[in-house]
Amino acid sequence: MIIVTGGAGFIGSNFIREWLAGSQEPVINLDKLTYAGNLKSLADLSHDARYRFVHADIGDRVAVAALLKEAQPRAIVNFAAESHVDRSIHGAAEFIATNIVGTFNLLEEVRAYWKGLPSTAQANFRFLHVSTDEVYGSLTATDPAFTETHRYEPNSPYSASKAASDHLVRACYHTHHLPVVTTNCSNNYGPYHFPEKLIPLMILNALAGKPLPVYGDGQNVRDWLYVTDHCSAIRLALEKGRLGETYNVGGRNERTNLDVVNIVCSLLDELKPRADGKSYATQISFVKDRPGHDQRYAIDATKLESELGWKAAENFESGIRKTVQWYLDNQDWVQSVTSGEYRKWMDTQYANDKEAA
Ligand code: NAD
Ligand code: TYD
Repeated sequence: MIIVTGGAGFIGSNFIREWLAGSQEPVINLDKLTYAGNLKSLADLSHDARYRFVHADIGDRVAVAALLKEAQPRAIVNFAAESHVDRSIHGAAEFIATNIVGTFNLLEEVRAYWKGLPSTAQANFRFLHVSTDEVYGSLTATDPAFTETHRYEPNSPYSASKAASDHLVRACYHTHHLPVVTTNCSNNYGPYHFPEKLIPLMILNALAGKPLPVYGDGQNVRDWLYVTDHCSAIRLALEKGRLGETYNVGGRNERTNLDVVNIVCSLLDELKPRADGKSYATQISFVKDRPGHDQRYAIDATKLESELGWKAAENFESGIRKTVQWYLDNQDWVQSVTSGEYRKWMDTQYANDKEAA
């Protein structure tokens, strides 16, 4: 069996669903259930005998050690993290606690468990660390896309904390020989995405008749990957990735934020037109820019494609249509995650919306 950490979040929940659709191997989901964790995202699996949820913090060494001893996993896939850049700007303490200290504590306990395994099980064991392209910093419009050898230049508290976690994982391999593989992926989108992030936020605000807050001039570029394509890359890296290596994951789908918001609006215009016949794009509102806003991310996934044979199944047009349709079809899930805590965040983050860029 394998343990997935952070499996109640956006990518982790998609990963567990995909995993169980493609294999009989059981999964344990270890999750702290922060504001971003939601067991409703896995409600369809709650009675599946191959799936089990354990409520714990990756930084809780006693809980992690006990679970490892009892469950005897052959692999850990580490998704657990604080993941939202804007929140890290408001306060980074939780990012340091989970992404750095939590990852360290998890590594310590996994290493102790791994050292106690028989030699074949030791050789077959894997620790897959899920990371982000944001550790590489920001590109100009003409720079080549990030390769795995790009210098680490994190610019936000979030990316700095993820960079630190990548370094701890790397050090654990070089110093202690724990069999690790790291993936650095570009921006994901798709079902179960928490609506504080760009794409789901725009869909929900549009439907609610609220402004669509585009930071700065909307010309920042992100490289979008449909979430199940990220999941297939992680699965391949887990099975075939070379030890101690990192693999960049991305689908060569660069878009400006303004383009993304306009695409979401035109899909909504088609799938759920406004009662007054106007386009949702009329709700776009340019607001004050994010401090330290990275201009452009772009991933060169050649290593993953040529070494492991990965290929994205979705392009941006197919993926974004599925995503918009999913949010229209899953209003129950939306209601369940947009709780009091969510509304509090929206009030804090977008309080200055009227300050135009
Ligand atoms: P998310 O915020 O949706 O989910 C994070 C999950 O981790 C939640 O279920 C939360 O409860 C859990 N968690 C947080 N702190 C924990 C702790 N201390 N112990 C146990 N569980 C804890 O995040 P996501 O978007 O699904 O991202 C998952 C991983 O992928 C992160 O490591 C992130 O850095 C990385 N990543 C995300 C993207 C993206 O576009 N979302 C892109 C590349 C990499
Ligand atoms: P986000 O989804 O927060 O991901 P990340 O910062 O990790 O790339 O943001 C994606 C892009 O969208 C980023 O350039 C910031 C921008 N953005 C807005 O313009 N308005 C918003 O309300 C949000 C949340 C993001």
